[in-house]
Amino acid sequence: MDIKITLTKEPKVIPPDSELGFGKYFSDHMFVMDYEAGKGWMNARIVPFGNITLHPASTVLHYGSEIFEGLKAYRRADGGVQLFRPMENIRRMNRSAERMCLPEIDENEALDILEQFVKLEERWVPKSFGSSLYLRPYMFGNDESLGVHTVNHATFMIIASPSGSYYKEGINPVKIMIESEDVRTVRGGTGYAKCGGNYAASNRAGERANKKGYSQVLWLDGVERKYIEEVGAMNVMFKVNGEIITPELTGSILPGITRKSCIEVLKKLGYKVSERLFSIDELKEALQNGTLEEAWGCGTAAVVSPIGKLMYEDVEYEVNGGKIGEVTQKLYDILTGIQWGTREDEFGWIHKLS
Ligand code: PLP
Ligand code: COI
Repeated sequence: MDIKITLTKEPKVIPPDSELGFGKYFSDHMFVMDYEAGKGWMNARIVPFGNITLHPASTVLHYGSEIFEGLKAYRRADGGVQLFRPMENIRRMNRSAERMCLPEIDENEALDILEQFVKLEERWVPKSFGSSLYLRPYMFGNDESLGVHTVNHATFMIIASPSGSYYKEGINPVKIMIESEDVRTVRGGTGYAKCGGNYAASNRAGERANKKGYSQVLWLDGVERKYIEEVGAMNVMFKVNGEIITPELTGSILPGITRKSCIEVLKKLGYKVSERLFSIDELKEALQNGTLEEAWGCGTAAVVSPIGKLMYEDVEYEVNGGKIGEVTQKLYDILTGIQWGTREDEFGWIHKLS
């Protein structure tokens, strides 16, 4: 892929790793390319990071035609930089694009773009274990007209943000509120797509949870409000009586790449993993009779995050004495080990850039 590069004249000072937080700082450049129906993708360019202009009628501003991805570039101890299963993100982005009537991007071209962009921004990949350069590819509809129709013009961009831990708790257990009023998505809707609207619709419950002292919301299914779905930015897993249970991908849940990786690791370790419907009643019973041994969330930003407390209908339950469990810790160690290159990648998930 031929990318026109315009370098910044004012390279920024990179903040120390200890100050990074999540998604607050941005690297020097961004990738941009344009799409027009009948012509395809064009004008691939890397330009200095900065504001963009949009027509006031631009589709994304009125009808929410937007999708995004999230993946990380990791720095190994030997100084090299690597990605974790980037093709999975690219394929999911194309599935999201198909759902939202946005144009798809050739997989190999998308990988080439990602590689060229990260190589140019390589100095922004932080060095300390646990921090990374969070990459945010995204696409939006950009027609300059108010008609509601499939998108004829779109823009694809990638920005990069050096980041530390997603939760201020780090690997310490988080408190999660099970939401019984709002729903995130429904089957047949956009749950499996990573589109901005899913997150906008989640904010009200998220805010209610925050006010009560909980980090995020655990969603129930949108039809019966009975089955566990996922957390705001993570998939969930439970260990009940030795069995690891994670909600099956019914169409309203995001097919997480960390989820998929956890399942593959757990199966290799010999655990029984069930992808199935898991009801709130079953969870409540396991919480009450003590068979819920561990609960955790998994996602790119959060990696593997133990759930220490769960609140449902104003009753708070403690999981595993509020401490990280053995399987959660094992998954965290294995995944972070592979991602940051301190552990052999027996699965072939690492994509080295340098
Ligand atoms: N579920 C939601 C709603 C998310 O936003 C994310 C984060 O991307 C995940 C699950 C986890 O997906 P992944 O592991 O691919 O990051
Ligand atoms: C990610 O884990 O990459 C996410 O997308 C989380 C994000 C919504 C903050």
